[in-house]
Amino acid sequence: MVQIIIVLILAYLLGSIPSGLIVGKVFYKTDIRQHGSGNLGGTNTFRTLGVKAGLAVTLADILKGTLAASLPVIFGIDINPLLAGVFAVIGHTYPIFAGFKGGKAVATSGGVLLFCAPLMFLTVFLVFFASLYFTKYVSLSSMLAGIFAVIYACIEGDIPLLIAVTLLASFVIYRHRANIRRIMNKTEPKIKWL
Ligand code: G3P
Repeated sequence: MVQIIIVLILAYLLGSIPSGLIVGKVFYKTDIRQHGSGNLGGTNTFRTLGVKAGLAVTLADILKGTLAASLPVIFGIDINPLLAGVFAVIGHTYPIFAGFKGGKAVATSGGVLLFCAPLMFLTVFLVFFASLYFTKYVSLSSMLAGIFAVIYACIEGDIPLLIAVTLLASFVIYRHRANIRRIMNKTEPKIKWL
């Protein structure tokens, strides 16, 4: 039991590493929370600091989810990796290292899926990218990808996966409340590079 708690705390701490804050402050002397949407995620890093920084933060956020989900396997603990993944996403969203104000759960959830259900990750990523191509909204595409992930897990009939993905997708949508308002007001920024 103690080992399970330690692994879940480790997963939370891993998810809490604020990649957007670190990349922004260390390499650009910029706190991305003071710019754009104010979000600590990859999209706001792209928007504020450009492609190189945006890619670095997105990849780091994905990696946090993947690594956290692999912790039970690495330490030989008998729990579903999805559980550790969910703790990493909680850490990413409410990071202890950044005043509990973090990202919107998208990239780190993706990283968890990459480890736990790679084919699903790929399919969900394709849905995200197709939506981004047609709508130009990262936020809307993130939410649609989340909803699609739930449908995918339903079709798979994998109950633990369905529970985890429903939790993560609900989290993603909850964290996009301001984006939903902006989409309805037509003030949500669209990407220009696709
Ligand atoms: O991954 C977060 C994205 O969906 C929206 O980010 O900065 O536009 O609110 P942002």
